[in-house]
Amino acid sequence: MQSPQENVRQRLKSLPAVQYGGLTLPSRYLLSPLAGFTNLPFRRIVREIGGVGLGTTDLVNARGLLDGSTKSLTLIETCPEDRPFAVQIFGNDPAVMRDCAQLLHTRGVDSIDINMGCPVNRVTKNGAGASLMCAPDSTVKLVQAVVESVPLPVTVKMRLGWDDQNLTAPFFAREFEQIGVAAVAIHGRTRAQGFSGSVNLVGIRQVVEAVERIPVIGNGDIRSVADGVRMFAETGCQGISMGRGALANPWIFRQFVEWETTGAWSPAGGFDDRLKLLRQQLGYLMQQHGEERGIVLFRKMAHWYLKGMCVPSPLREQFQRARTVGDVDETLAAIIDFGPTRGTRDQLPELSIPVPSGPNERW
Ligand SMILES: Cc1cc2nc3c(=O)[nH]c(=O)nc-3n(C[C@H](O)[C@H](O)[C@H](O)COP(=O)(O)O)c2cc1C
Repeated sequence: MQSPQENVRQRLKSLPAVQYGGLTLPSRYLLSPLAGFTNLPFRRIVREIGGVGLGTTDLVNARGLLDGSTKSLTLIETCPEDRPFAVQIFGNDPAVMRDCAQLLHTRGVDSIDINMGCPVNRVTKNGAGASLMCAPDSTVKLVQAVVESVPLPVTVKMRLGWDDQNLTAPFFAREFEQIGVAAVAIHGRTRAQGFSGSVNLVGIRQVVEAVERIPVIGNGDIRSVADGVRMFAETGCQGISMGRGALANPWIFRQFVEWETTGAWSPAGGFDDRLKLLRQQLGYLMQQHGEERGIVLFRKMAHWYLKGMCVPSPLREQFQRARTVGDVDETLAAIIDFGPTRGTRDQLPELSIPVPSGPNERW
């Protein structure tokens, strides 16, 4: 008798590739947007390792992009290796969202994703992000305005609803399918939940059952092949997306593809592999922003690299104080010399990235 994992694998192998309208994704394993992390340098890293079906930018303010804000323009920077590539926009004004989508079309993006999941007050108080889930009529009109304005696939990423009394994701998914949305990604929590508790797989299944043919991408708490198998098995989704799981283990997409193809997968990289990625990602950031700014911008990401490598805290702190390539090299030499505090250079303990604390207000 086949194991449950093998059953899921055979089902996936028999499915066609995930289609976002006319765009065929190279795999069903997608990178979930993580503001502050899923920038071009990180997307390049995960793509070089392989297995990524689609990379998406951090959420970009539609109005900011139209106004030519430097921050927004930097967020949408891409390169030939960064394909297929979606830009995620947020806003609550249909005309602004439409104009922004048209601008993105002229810039050659492959797909546009509308943010309907962001729980942060700064975004929801202006009627954008997850609060779009509270206004069904105007939200459907807004999404329709975007879909009709461009020949590109338009997708929506949303939560299950605002709170447990308002689980509106199945309703929206059905409506969106009718107006031509190419796919929906569902983070299986409500806005009220922030990041607490666990992902509600039954809730995601209800979204899968609500649509006729568009792909539903299941998202939330996937850190390993076993977690992904559970998401596929219990929801019937066509694809999955990983955010924190990819930060902790940039090999995760390749592992999924290996598993789907052969049933087995290679381990995540060890100490030296992570060190190589760290250097490479920092190099890409410095190319984009110059040495000083690149090093400062890398600090957020370096925190997780160094944790994953089990670097002792005094050396992690030293790295965070680096201002020049010379400082970085000197600290990395000490890090290499010391080695990991747990596990071995070849086999590090699994890194789990906690959910942000006080999510709706602070992160
Ligand atoms: C630091 C952080 C930033 C995030 N930024 C975004 C964002 O810009 N757009 C978005 O749709 N979701 C964002 N999310 C939500 C993630 O895309 C994802 O839905 C959530 O983290 C659950 O998936 P995971 O367990 O794989 O991380 C963010 C989450 C975190 C932790």
